[in-house]
Parts: sequence; C-alpha cells; structure tokens
Amino acid sequence: MKTKKQKDKILFTPGPLTTSQTVKQAMLRDLGSRDSEFIAIVQEIRQKLVELGQANPGQYTAVLMQGSGTFGLEAVVSSTVPPDGKLLIIINGAYGKRLAKIASVLKIDTITLEYPENTIPNLREIEDTLKTDKKITNVSVVHCETTTGIINPIKEIGGLVAKSGARYFVDAMSSFGAVPVNLHECNIDYLVSSANKCIEGVPGFSFVLCKISSLRETAGYARSVSFNLLQQYQGLEKNGQFRFTPPTHTLTAFHQALKELKAEGGVKGRAKRYRKNYETLIEGMRKMGFKEYLIPEQQGYIITSFLYPDDPNFSFEKFYESLNQKDYVIYPGKVTDANCFRIGNIGKIYESDIKALLVAIRDTIAEMGVKLN
Ligand SMILES: Cc1ncc(COP(=O)(O)O)c(C=O)c1O
Repeated sequence: MKTKKQKDKILFTPGPLTTSQTVKQAMLRDLGSRDSEFIAIVQEIRQKLVELGQANPGQYTAVLMQGSGTFGLEAVVSSTVPPDGKLLIIINGAYGKRLAKIASVLKIDTITLEYPENTIPNLREIEDTLKTDKKITNVSVVHCETTTGIINPIKEIGGLVAKSGARYFVDAMSSFGAVPVNLHECNIDYLVSSANKCIEGVPGFSFVLCKISSLRETAGYARSVSFNLLQQYQGLEKNGQFRFTPPTHTLTAFHQALKELKAEGGVKGRAKRYRKNYETLIEGMRKMGFKEYLIPEQQGYIITSFLYPDDPNFSFEKFYESLNQKDYVIYPGKVTDANCFRIGNIGKIYESDIKALLVAIRDTIAEMGVKLN
C-alpha cells in the first residue's frame, strides 16, 4: 500500500499520464514471454488496436515495439523509406522537428515543409510539392502536435499523398484512442502511438498500425536490427512472440487499459470525457484572465498551451513548483515565439480534477502576486 509520502500527484501532462488503480494492479504479476497466456494477451492487444483504427484486420495489422513513442517513430522512419527513397516531413512543432532529426541521423534524403507552431499546414503547398518532386516516396505528419495541441488535417493530407502514390505515416502519439481516426479513409500506411497516452496504459512500448500490403513491400529497407518493423511484424505473426524481451508488465497493464477504454464507450466515450475536461479548463482559465496560444478553431481537446501572464511577478518555475507542492503537475511550453505552459486534459482525470486544478492555480497566482487582466 502507498504511504502518505507516496501519494500520487495528478498529471496534467502530455504523458506519462495518471492511470487507474486497476491498470496499475494488472502489472503486479510475472508472466514469461513464451507463456501461452501472455501470447494470447499480446494477440488480443494487436487485434483491439486495429479495431480502434476502424480498420479491416485483413488489411491492417498492429506491430508492437519496445521503448517509448519515439522508438516506434524511429522504427517507421528507419524501415519504411526505400534506400533510394525521399521523405517529405510536414512540420509545425517540436515533434515534427524530431522526425526530421531522426531522418537526418539516418541520412535519409529529406525535404521539409515547415510552418509556425500556430499554423495549420498549407494543403496547396503540400499538393504542389508532391506534384513537382517526383522523388518523394514517403510523407509524414504529426496528428495532434503536442507542442501546442493543434490538430493537423490528416485526412486531407492523406488524400493528397494517396494521389501522389507515396506512403503516408502519421505520428498520432497523443491523439490515438481519443480522437477518432479511420486508417483506410485517411489513406494511412503507418500510424504510431504509445502505451502511455490516450489509451491510459503505463510507459514501455509503442505500437505501429500498418497497412499490411505496404509493410510487405519494405523488405531490405531497414537501417537497423532493433527497429526493423517488418521483422518485428514477422516475428509476432510467426509465434505471437516479440523478437527480443517484451515489456510484459506494461503489456498486461495495457490489456486492462483497453478493457477500461471499451467500458467507457471506446474512442467516442473517451473523447467526450477529454472534451469536457478541456471545456472546463479553458472556461476556468479564461475567467481568471489567462489566454490561449492557439485560436479556438485550431485547438484540439488533448492539451492546451497558455501564454505566460504579462506580469513581472510571474515565474513559470515558481508557478510549476507551487502547483507541484499541491500535487498537481503541469508542463512547460515548447513554442519558439511565445512563452507558454501547457495543461493536458488526458489520462484518468475528470472534470472534478480540472476544477481542483483551477482552484490551485487561482491560489498560486494570488500567492505570487500576479495580476491577470
Ligand atoms: C506527437 C508526439 N510525438 C512523439 C512523442 C514522443 O514520445 P515519447 O516521449 O514517448 O518518446 C510525443 C510525446 O509526448 C508526442 O506527443
């Protein structure tokens, strides 16, 4: 049992997130990686993930990858771009930039279309780039840019990519499970998310939803052994096992998290709770005088960036620390042209938690002597 000292804080972050007791309890057992029960759990997780992508299991598969979300992204970038291929990366935040960094380290021929963090990518420009640069074989974009919380138009971009014949890869790390996505309708070949985001599991693996026909084309493309997506898929298909040690405890927790997602009404039910969290948050923050970084039409309900108050008494470090002392964890901002902090609406948190956070923010601001107008 937890002592008072070990009391969990409430995480209003982009992840890891607050999880349910039952998800944590599901980890409290040791299972061998070749155990038939464990193999059945892995199989069920893979099936359920394809269902969450509203996809036909004959056409799509889920490949699980040890490591955090970035490991799944690196698996896709490193093993689905042909050796002589060219990758177009659409960037409007830190996670798009991370994809470009991965491609650069791997020495993959890359072109980027970069937009400010508060701007939706220009579809016309993407279309023109795909039409004029015939060398482009792969395109990637981030769905919810967790840098700000902006939601990018993955379906519209997918339509353009499909016309060009390139393969399409979406980093849906912070949206999958809470923002509906239909893999086929969005023309997605690869989508990555991880265990500790909107499905509300604990950290330890990422997953890649793959169009099987596209994945099968990639033999010989991989630039690494551990990140070889096709071989990971083939291993899981052959005997249900991971090629290398699986994160068994994380997987049993995730299995439970999927059951809880279903009980909440699936992606729709979860979206409803997160949206309520978001609405409660912005209403309360606006009432206090805080301003959002994004205009409302671009803002998703996953995470919200707020501008620092324009008052010399405000210090993010003090603000953060004081909230932390009250058991509420928020997150720094990552925006280049504005000072921001972020508050996440995801994880096992409810409207009542948001309301409690708002009270703590009001108290903290008063303690700091910050005036909001
Ligand atoms: C959109 C996006 N991509 C990538 C990542 C990186 O995931 P990880 O920190 O699990 O490697 C995150 C993390 O929040 C994210 O939100």
